[in-house]
Amino acid sequence: MKKTILTGLRPTGNLHLGHLFGAGQNWVKLQDEYNFYLEIADVQALTDNFNNPEKVRKNVKEITMDLLSIGIDPEKVNLFIQSKIPEIAELTVYYSNLVTVARLHRNPTVKTEIAQKKELFGNEGESITYGFLGYPVSQAADITAFDGELVPVGEDQLPLIEQCREIVRKFNNIYGDTLTEPESYLSKTKRIKGLDGNEKMGKSLGNAIYLVDDEETVNKKIMGAVTDPDKIKKDDPANPDVCMVYYYHKLVNTDENVNTICSECKKGERGCVACKKELAARMNEFLSDFRAKRKQYEENPELVQKILDEGTKRAQEKAKEQMAKVRKAMKIDY
Ligand code: TRP
Repeated sequence: MKKTILTGLRPTGNLHLGHLFGAGQNWVKLQDEYNFYLEIADVQALTDNFNNPEKVRKNVKEITMDLLSIGIDPEKVNLFIQSKIPEIAELTVYYSNLVTVARLHRNPTVKTEIAQKKELFGNEGESITYGFLGYPVSQAADITAFDGELVPVGEDQLPLIEQCREIVRKFNNIYGDTLTEPESYLSKTKRIKGLDGNEKMGKSLGNAIYLVDDEETVNKKIMGAVTDPDKIKKDDPANPDVCMVYYYHKLVNTDENVNTICSECKKGERGCVACKKELAARMNEFLSDFRAKRKQYEENPELVQKILDEGTKRAQEKAKEQMAKVRKAMKIDY
């Protein structure tokens, strides 16, 4: 029997290189070995974007096309939309009794996000909604609705998986052994740095290369990437380890070329402009397969809809089964 994995992503923007190297490539590998549920977490996206429903709606389609174009195979993966699974909302209500407000406030991921909101909006009381504070509970419902055993996520999500495990243990303690305690599954490349040298590539940081970026945009972005600030002239020797251009070469170029680039850079035999141009060409080549697939899906919106409908239907069946078990354990199976 294949193990079940579940993971999700918020439809708030297109996928960028950080998503691809940090998670997407790993998902594509896992789809052969596991029973895979991949959730487009529109309900979770709405916790932060409740006043911008158009954005979430648009990005459900965008992200679906991105995922399919990186190689997520809809025959192997149950790709589904969270809001189409009412059982998740129902489980969230029951689980909300099993977690204290104080514990949610102590969740490190929630804590960081509250700090960010405070910085943006000032007064916490005005910006922290009940729905936001409770999203870890809803995420526990996402995972357990499908009996998820493994959850492939980035490091920042670990506290949310831990919170889910606590809820599962408490549920099983009170209502009897019903739910599986999930384990997180960290991918090897954890985080991709941004064009500006920031530790994280992110939409809000404005330092990302998106998979949907066209050639010209990629060229422009790479031209603006941060290089060794101590290198002033073209033939100054430099330190590739502080250079974002070298960093991306390592992601998309061959080992042999990377070695040459490294030694030329150190010896001052390589100008940054030429090095950037070479990287841009490589990057565009790297993205060409994605672009070709993406174009096909863009031209066939009915197919994209059908894939979502079918994945969602399979997910609904599983969630229904799981819900029946939970209702029985909680003695609400009237
Ligand atoms: N919170 C995750 C993120 O922001 C997305 C997500 C929603 C998720 N539901 C999930 C991840 C369930 C893992 C499991 O990236």
